[in-house]
Amino acid sequence: MTPIIALDFKDQATTLDFLKAFPQTERLFVKIGMELFYAEGPAVIKAIQAAHPVDIFLDLKLHDIPNTVEKAAWQLGRLGVALTTVHAAGGKDMMLAAKRGLLAGAKAAHHPAPKMLAITHLTSTDQAMLENQLSIDMPISQAVQRLAAIAQASDADGVVASALETPLIRSVTKPDFLVVTPGIRPRGTAVGDQKRVVTPGRAKRLGSSAIVIGRPITQADDPVAAYQSIKKAWETAHD
Ligand code: C5P
Repeated sequence: MTPIIALDFKDQATTLDFLKAFPQTERLFVKIGMELFYAEGPAVIKAIQAAHPVDIFLDLKLHDIPNTVEKAAWQLGRLGVALTTVHAAGGKDMMLAAKRGLLAGAKAAHHPAPKMLAITHLTSTDQAMLENQLSIDMPISQAVQRLAAIAQASDADGVVASALETPLIRSVTKPDFLVVTPGIRPRGTAVGDQKRVVTPGRAKRLGSSAIVIGRPITQADDPVAAYQSIKKAWETAHD
């Protein structure tokens, strides 16, 4: 998979303006998150698909009772996106319901079914929070590994995780299980609020299936050049 550009923009106009710089011959993989989706609704997906050749990762992190999630996932399955997310913490029944909803929604709209990624523990969760607030008394790496194994047994196609956790996850999942990794920074770029960052090449060497990268591209003076250089580093595994 080509590097996934996180389109963390506040509205559709800014998003389309950003995409305009990329040649139409360059098929892109882009991530739409809650801010843009809640601002513009499903119409923003159609607008992006119409503006540029793209695969879309719709990152809405569903987490509710299985019945509600199945119905919400049905709606997402109709949109023609490639990837979606749910919280593994919602449990096995919820993930199975989400997968059913995605498959049925996609079938109803004659689209290929989106793949479902599970969020294990957010990278904003640390050991103290795990123990004191979530009452999970085990090392966070083990807790992540455990949720990844549960996600795989619940029909998830993969997980979103730090590239640094990839080898641990790969040790308990099948080879085709996707491990999609944000927290990517090319050498010499601003880290921002990310804490443990990894270069595109190192993410590849650690076994990531795909990287998600936002600000080093969206805030660059030349986003197309920044993207090309990140793509090259990812493809060659040389930082
Ligand atoms: O700009 P930056 O490269 O930090 O963007 C990373 C993207 O990945 C953002 O959309 C962020 O919400 C998302 N993400 C993350 N860490 C996670 C899960 C998602 O940075 N654990």
